Amino acid sequence: MEKDLIKQFRYFLKDSIRKRVDFSQTDQNRGREVPPIEKPYPQNAKRIDLVPPGKWNHIPSIDLKIAIANRQSRRLYREQPLTLEEVSFLLWATQGLRGNVIEGHAYRTVPSAGCRHALETYLAILRVEGLDIGVYRYLPLSHQLLFEFSEENLSNKLIRAAFGQPYPGNAAITFIWAAIPYRMEWRYGLAAHRVIAMDVGHVCQNLYLACEAIQAGTCAIAAYDQEALDALLRMDGEEEFAVYMASVGKV
Ligand SMILES: Cc1cc2nc3c(=O)[nH]c(=O)nc-3n(C[C@H](O)[C@H](O)[C@H](O)COP(=O)(O)O)c2cc1C
Repeated sequence: MEKDLIKQFRYFLKDSIRKRVDFSQTDQNRGREVPPIEKPYPQNAKRIDLVPPGKWNHIPSIDLKIAIANRQSRRLYREQPLTLEEVSFLLWATQGLRGNVIEGHAYRTVPSAGCRHALETYLAILRVEGLDIGVYRYLPLSHQLLFEFSEENLSNKLIRAAFGQPYPGNAAITFIWAAIPYRMEWRYGLAAHRVIAMDVGHVCQNLYLACEAIQAGTCAIAAYDQEALDALLRMDGEEEFAVYMASVGKV
């Protein structure tokens, strides 16, 4: 039994699935409408303009070699809040656009299989200058933050959702990346899921490197209570669910 499971889970890492998918039958090739590249939101929702690339005055340039050499998981953070400019930079570095939307896709600062970008970025914000504590979502198309909701005891709930790991509760912000799998399935069918997992790794790596530029640190978190985190973020757990987290704070 255990052996069968191991085989099954190893299979997930292989690209053998591609030879079993009939790509002529994917929703894309059957002419189904391309899914939105950003999760829709009510037009009257509260949005905060982020500082766009090119308008940053306090984001130092650092040598890429130094950023790569110094990158490490940092789990202890100072009380100091992040600025909105720093948050703008981190969001751009992890999911920002680097071009216009053309026929249902847009290139970003990170790669993605088939340019499908099946991720949404939620931010649990505890300490950012000028922002209330709460859960927000990045809107890459307009480079804005969408205020999702405020939550009592957010810090404790984050710790609980991370199986007691304390850093999301002490961080200034915690990134929570959610997958909207249909965005990738539309093109790749059953070959979608492996590449979504790969995509989110690229995103988190950019976060690690970008943090090095602003005297901040991050720690990737893949060990969390799936159902508790999805419930905390008010996701349905099927069409959208959390796939990765990373706490961020000044170091
Ligand atoms: C996919 C992945 C999942 C991780 N999950 C956790 C986690 O849940 N908790 C944690 O403290 N660190 C987590 N880490 C951080 C690793 O422990 C860390 O990268 C590793 O110990 C190497 O240290 P370094 O990042 O400082 O080089 C994770 C890292 C990766 C890449």
